[in-house]
Amino acid sequence: MGAGAEGGQPVKISGDLSNRLVHRWRSEEDAIMVGTNTARMDNPRLNTRLWPGKNPTRIVFDNRLVLDKNLHVFDGSQPTIVYYQTNDKLPDERPNVIYSITNSLIHTLQDLHERKIQSVLVEGGATLLQSFLEAGLWDEIRVFRSRMMLGKGRFAGAIKAPGVQGRLVSREMVGEDELTIYKP
Ligand SMILES: NC(=O)c1ccc[n+]([C@@H]2O[C@H](COP(=O)([O-])OP(=O)(O)OC[C@H]3O[C@@H](n4cnc5c(N)ncnc54)[C@H](OP(=O)(O)O)[C@@H]3O)[C@@H](O)[C@H]2O)c1
Repeated sequence: MGAGAEGGQPVKISGDLSNRLVHRWRSEEDAIMVGTNTARMDNPRLNTRLWPGKNPTRIVFDNRLVLDKNLHVFDGSQPTIVYYQTNDKLPDERPNVIYSITNSLIHTLQDLHERKIQSVLVEGGATLLQSFLEAGLWDEIRVFRSRMMLGKGRFAGAIKAPGVQGRLVSREMVGEDELTIYKP
C-alpha cells in the first residue's frame, strides 16, 4: 500500500478502494505479518478500520528487540506476537503482546500453528516477502500496481518490489489500481 521513498518517508501508492479491500482481507485472515523495517518506517496499525470485521492478530519480527515501544504495533489494542532471535536482551512485558523466540521462518510458522493461527496475510516489506517466496511458503500472491511511478524521479530511493512467481489466475481493476492474483 505504501513504499519507502528517499529519506525513508512512506508514500501512499494505492487508491482508497484498494486500501478498503486490503482491510477486508485483513478481517478474513487469522493474522497479519510485517517485517521490522515496515513496522518502524510505516508505523502501521494493522487493524480493519476501513472494513467491518474482526481485527487479525498482529505478527511483527523484531529479531534484535530494537523497535521503539511507542509504535502502534505495541499499543495493546489487539493481540500481537513479536518474534525475536537474540539471547542478549529480554523482551519487555506488555499487555496483549506475546514475545516468542525463533530461529527460522519454518519454526515461526510451526509456532503460529501451535497457537491455532491458520492463515497469515504477509503485508511486507520486500525483504520479508522475499523470504516467503524463496522458501516456497505461500498459497497466493496478490499484487496491486498503481500508475504512480516510484522508480524514477522524485522517489528514486524507493524499495523494489519482490519478483512475482507463480500462475496468474486473475486480473482486474480496483479503482485506479490493477490487482493481479497468482497461485503456486
Ligand atoms: N508497497 C507496499 O505494499 C508495502 C508494504 C509494506 C511495506 N512497504 C515498504 O517496505 C519498506 C520496508 O521493506 P524492507 O524490505 O526494507 O523491510 P521489511 O521486510 O519490512 O523488514 C526487513 C527486516 O525484517 C526482518 N525479517 C524479514 N524477513 C524475516 C524472516 N523471514 N525471519 C525473520 N526476520 C525477518 C529482518 O530484520 P533483521 O535485519 O533485524 O534481522 C529484516 O531485515 C518500507 O519502506 C515500507 O514502506 C511497502
